[in-house]
Amino acid sequence: MKFGGWLWGAQLLCIAAAATPLYAKNVFKENSLEVKPNRSFGIDYKNNRFLKDGEGFRYASGSIHYFRVHQTLWHDRLKKLRMAGFNAVQTYVEWSSHEPEPGMYDFSGMLDLEGFLIAAQQEDLLVILRLGPFIDAERDMGGFPYWLLRMNPWMKLRTADPSYLKYVDNWFGNILLPKIKPHLYANGGPVIMIQVENEYGSYQACDFAYTSHMRDLTRQKLGDEVLLFSTDGSGTGYLKCGKIPGVYATVDFGTGANLNKTFGAQRLFEPQGPLVNSEFYPGWLDHWGDPHATVSSENVATSLDAMLAMNASVNMYMFHGGTSFGLTAGANKGSTYQACPTSYDYDAPLSEAGDPTEKYFAIRNVTKKYLPLPAGEVPPAMPKAAYGKIVMANHWTVMQLKGALQSTMQQWPLTFEDLNMPNGIVVYETTLNFTVRDPSVLSLNDIGDRGYVFVDGEYAGVASREGAIFDVPVSVRPGQTISVVVESQGRICVGSGINDFKGLTTNATLDGFYLEGWNMSPVPITNMTRLKAAFHKLKKISHSGQSMLSLSYGTRQGSMSFYRGTFKVPDDDDHPQDTFLKLDGWTKGIAWVNDFCLGRYWPVMGPQVTLYIPAGVLKKGTNKLMLLELEASPCADPSQCYVSLVDTPQINGPTPRKL
Ligand SMILES: *[C@@H]1O[C@H](CO)[C@@H](O)[C@H](O)[C@H]1NC(C)=O
Ligand SMILES: *[C@@H]1O[C@H](CO)[C@@H](O)[C@H](O)[C@H]1NC(C)=O
Ligand SMILES: *[C@@H]1O[C@H](CO)[C@@H](O)[C@H](O)[C@H]1NC(C)=O
Ligand SMILES: *[C@@H]1O[C@H](CO)[C@@H](O)[C@H](O)[C@H]1NC(C)=O
Ligand SMILES: *[C@@H]1O[C@H](CO)[C@@H](O)[C@H](O)[C@H]1NC(C)=O
Ligand SMILES: *[C@@H]1O[C@H](CO)[C@@H](O)[C@H](O)[C@H]1NC(C)=O
Ligand SMILES: *[C@@H]1O[C@H](CO)[C@@H](O)[C@H](O)[C@H]1NC(C)=O
Repeated sequence: MKFGGWLWGAQLLCIAAAATPLYAKNVFKENSLEVKPNRSFGIDYKNNRFLKDGEGFRYASGSIHYFRVHQTLWHDRLKKLRMAGFNAVQTYVEWSSHEPEPGMYDFSGMLDLEGFLIAAQQEDLLVILRLGPFIDAERDMGGFPYWLLRMNPWMKLRTADPSYLKYVDNWFGNILLPKIKPHLYANGGPVIMIQVENEYGSYQACDFAYTSHMRDLTRQKLGDEVLLFSTDGSGTGYLKCGKIPGVYATVDFGTGANLNKTFGAQRLFEPQGPLVNSEFYPGWLDHWGDPHATVSSENVATSLDAMLAMNASVNMYMFHGGTSFGLTAGANKGSTYQACPTSYDYDAPLSEAGDPTEKYFAIRNVTKKYLPLPAGEVPPAMPKAAYGKIVMANHWTVMQLKGALQSTMQQWPLTFEDLNMPNGIVVYETTLNFTVRDPSVLSLNDIGDRGYVFVDGEYAGVASREGAIFDVPVSVRPGQTISVVVESQGRICVGSGINDFKGLTTNATLDGFYLEGWNMSPVPITNMTRLKAAFHKLKKISHSGQSMLSLSYGTRQGSMSFYRGTFKVPDDDDHPQDTFLKLDGWTKGIAWVNDFCLGRYWPVMGPQVTLYIPAGVLKKGTNKLMLLELEASPCADPSQCYVSLVDTPQINGPTPRKL
């Protein structure tokens, strides 16, 4: 059951982007990318192929998500894609990152979508855009902004529900599509195709009014000439609801498929036109606690060869997976909730750190049979540095920090969404005013997603949605405080569960009796400005000697604490290099370098053990590392209170035994 909550009062700022003819203005003259008149891209139905500038065309494309690669590395990754003989790059656009709160837009740094499009063209690649608004992609809520759930908790996502379309129409109509328009192929840019929605046939709603609306909105803003396509699983069951009239239907599938069957499904809906696999999987996604997924290079090469031999156009998902930095990773719902790790390596041809793998060369061997390889060498793997040990020191505990945070008092618990909290942790506290058995059972049903329970500051246990463990035995007397520190581990990214509320989403009970009177303190993990402001305030309070700081509880084995350390990038390094954070002895938490959130770590769960640190977030001289450790640090023994920066990643570590 969900709360209605209050309505968040932000006004929608409609910043209309001017449609500057970037490419026509010869911006790239110096790169000798001249603008040809009469640029066109479409479909030659008669000959089952694409038509580019009036000539037969097919693409070998690779997925690289700009929002998963540090912007300083875009050119390197795109060049490596081009050097494998590919002629296009495919990317999703993530609404939640660009509009983190209603009417607040961000296209800076890693979110500089237009910069990415320009970089792709400079690297001689065409671009296939998948604008969503829903993208799945193993991202939090499939790329939807979490605040949609606050605007209307009953919103029917991905349908023609007006309370949903209102926000989609603003995002697409006023912000995104005007930005895309100057980058269309016909306007001199690299964008040849635009996907409408995303694998919509897999969604139970099957709302044709919605998909037609998305088609019409896109055409209205981008023009009738732009080539629109849809992507669905390669079965009639998917295409049935995924096919949109007037939008070219394509399919997706991995290695070893019976191509006659998979492309046969596309043919049922597109009797003529190019065969297209829009997501050919050279690897697969991971979940915390499951072994690292891999796909053999040989199978990838064989299947790719077979598709290209049929003149099909293929997009490889992923060519380079990159990293779900920050708290952007999503989760899946199988038999239970399964959170995705920070690494999105995907066993792709370019590793998480962008290095060409053996799979890369096996693929290149295949593409070169069908498409010309550009002259020159494949750029080598970038150097990696082992900057060594970083001694860490306890900074503040979460309970101390609570003293400097805004908290909310309510009779019943609120969700993260109603607390304006995208992701991270919220401290929920209530004081018991009745007598119960000893021990009694604290039930935190459907918690989103992990709840660390303390009684008067003493650790009592953890509830875990992943383990479907919602009951924690506690010994508690009237007058004692029950604290539940709830961590969100990523919203479900696909299917019917994407309206995935976080925090205490049902009433907590003790031996079946409702607990009332909750004090809730969101810890602003996803907003560095606010987190730093809270640290600053805390420092002031501590100088004034207020007693709340004696509340240092939650520190079992150093848990629920922030740690800080510094390390040096030598001045004689040409420039900082990529490196990996190794957390032996640490348990579960979140890491930041120089205020850049690297993401969640959980080495004891695996399979991901190290966190990738791109060189672009480092600087010469002193760099700062911060950890929020939720469970247990090695710092009881001060000689062990450190982490290491190593030159080799480990993303296939041991995982728990499961029946
Ligand atoms: C561009 O198209 C127009 C109309 O189809 C045609 O008259 C013109 O010759 C074309 N120009 C070039 C350079 O192909
Ligand atoms: C699949 O095989 C049938 C029978 O050989 C053929 O008619 C059809 O064109 C094939 N479909 C594709 C997509 O190649
Ligand atoms: C692929 O395209 C070429 C050139 O248009 C054509 O000659 C060939 O028959 C096509 N092959 C298949 C399997 O359709
Ligand atoms: C690429 O092809 C060449 C020649 O066919 C072969 O010798 C080589 O082993 C192949 N490389 C990979 C990585 O498959
Ligand atoms: C908790 O119970 C109260 C009283 O029945 C109800 O109003 C409220 O909606 C419930 N809250 C949740 C999160 O289920
Ligand atoms: C406990 O406190 C809540 C509010 O904080 C109140 O509504 C409730 O009646 C109290 N219960 C008892 C048994 O006193
Ligand atoms: C982060 O916090 C600052 C300071 O409160 C605020 O101005 C900014 O809008 C917040 N950013 C986001 C994305 O919520």
